[in-house]
Amino acid sequence: MSKLVAYFSATGTTARVADELARAIGADLFEIMPEQPYTAADLDWRDKDSRSSHEMDDESCRPAVVGSVENMAAYDTVFVGFPIWWYVEPRIVDTFLEAYDFSGKTIIPFATSGSSGLGKAPQRMATLAPGATVLEGRMLNGNPGAEELRAWAESIC
Ligand SMILES: Cc1cc2nc3c(=O)[nH]c(=O)nc-3n(C[C@H](O)[C@H](O)[C@H](O)COP(=O)(O)O)c2cc1C
Repeated sequence: MSKLVAYFSATGTTARVADELARAIGADLFEIMPEQPYTAADLDWRDKDSRSSHEMDDESCRPAVVGSVENMAAYDTVFVGFPIWWYVEPRIVDTFLEAYDFSGKTIIPFATSGSSGLGKAPQRMATLAPGATVLEGRMLNGNPGAEELRAWAESIC
């Protein structure tokens, strides 16, 4: 059984960490890519009318994802990375979680942010992936290196 690092990244920060993590632990990498890319205006959290504000205001919003993981059954551990949006995971991460059967798998959240922690994201993610074990996960701000990422991954799975 092998590991997958799946991530969403609107501006590249989480992408860099996800890439480093996947290389450090020899995992496959999958980008949760929005069908409609986010523009700078979409990401303006100060604008109540921006796309991201609308999405985060609506718990049932599920932005469409391009493509899918080919063989999810092959993975026993799935790291799921994202930027913190309004203290939780962006809704597109919820789209990803609802698209697969994660039962029996371990999900490990990780995130980047301006300063917030993971908040209620792991608990929310657990409700969206019934039957999975969702670990507490970790913030990965500050460009952690391969050694640190490998040590962290080995300590939990
Ligand atoms: C819509 C939106 C909401 C955000 N909300 C938070 C937040 O609640 N707390 C925080 O510390 N950072 C917040 N941020 C900042 C991002 O979490 C941070 O810049 C992250 O590293 C971006 O990752 P990315 O480049 O992979 O998209 C927000 C950013 C956006 C665009």
